[in-house]
Amino acid sequence: MIDLDNIEEIITQEKNYLKNKSKNYVKNFLEIEKFISDEIINIEELNKQNENIIPEVKFNDLKLNLKDLTSEVKKRGCIVIRDVFDDDLITQMNKDLEQYIEENNYYEDQKKKADIDKYFSDLKSGKPQIFGLYWSKPQVNIRQSIELDAVKKWLNQLWTYKQNNELIFDPNHELVYADRVRRREPGDSTLGLSPHCDAGSVERWIDKGYQAVYEKIFADNFNEYDPFDAANRNKTKEIESPAVSHVFRTFQGWVALTEQGPGDGTLQLIPIAKSMAYILTRALLDDVDEKDLCSSMPARALSVNSKYHSLLLRGLVSIPKMNPGDTVWWHPDVVHAVEDHHKGKGYSNVVYVGSTPYCEKNLAYVKKQSQKFLEGKSPPDFAAEDYEVTYKNRATITDLTSLGKKQLAL
Ligand SMILES: [Fe+2]
Repeated sequence: MIDLDNIEEIITQEKNYLKNKSKNYVKNFLEIEKFISDEIINIEELNKQNENIIPEVKFNDLKLNLKDLTSEVKKRGCIVIRDVFDDDLITQMNKDLEQYIEENNYYEDQKKKADIDKYFSDLKSGKPQIFGLYWSKPQVNIRQSIELDAVKKWLNQLWTYKQNNELIFDPNHELVYADRVRRREPGDSTLGLSPHCDAGSVERWIDKGYQAVYEKIFADNFNEYDPFDAANRNKTKEIESPAVSHVFRTFQGWVALTEQGPGDGTLQLIPIAKSMAYILTRALLDDVDEKDLCSSMPARALSVNSKYHSLLLRGLVSIPKMNPGDTVWWHPDVVHAVEDHHKGKGYSNVVYVGSTPYCEKNLAYVKKQSQKFLEGKSPPDFAAEDYEVTYKNRATITDLTSLGKKQLAL
């Protein structure tokens, strides 16, 4: 357990420990910076030529096992998978979700509980248009769909999930991670999210599990570091805090409920799978205070900011235009943001889904999550707003398919 009362001493101590892993931590950083710089230049050039940067595939083509595609996803750390769901089905689900929000007076409730969710308070754009709803029927049906199950199995297979012949996770047995809904009004100009990573901020330097994940980066062996090696990813311990993810996600992702493109207040990514190496080693340089990790705060999202990470931020690109039923997925170390301004004409809505395959860490979480599901409460990782306890038309156990039950360990 990380002792928050002594966090500054711990950071100082662990930074020294990490610096000593390298023969020369400045030189190590400069080598990583060179790699990142080349990637950034490549992204900028492709951007100028209006070329695709984020790999894309149609759902029906996943079964073709395209080699070029997998190597591209491993390089970029993200992928758009299109036409996972039928447009009409998703459009109906979007309407159902809207009805769920309205018939249960979510907006009134939300005003009363606005202070509970503090996770995003440090991301300068302020509170986003993200709804603390987890158990509407559309969300539950998307999660337990066979389509999403197939997508997640494919994504999980991109990882090395065996170590010394032991399974780190089971790529073919997906648990589910209940997450929220984003519904962004056209014209909204205040509610974006600045660039960040989830699943721990300072933990990435000070937790023993994360230190093992990133060992090669700190120990002058960046070339051998594989972001898709799952070893030790299931052993990280995150700070106890509302709204910090405590599961191992092979990918974060969402399903588009509405059409949305660049400029419509949508997702932005820095499509470099190994970019965490830059963030980690940057914090060891001598211009960063010994008690500081480039402004990352415990129990908040990992900050990626212009003071320390301006090179990396040049690589931030908006995802391509998405249609209802398309999905986007990004590695848990990939920096992401939500555009500040929604300049489009329609709502830009998504249901967050993540891929959380079966492993002890995820099973322990999912068991706690199931209790919350049965009571209609917010899942353990999220602020205990518990909006849905009394909501009409909330999904209950009778709405679960056999796959749905298995995914929730029920
Ligand atoms: Fe995030």
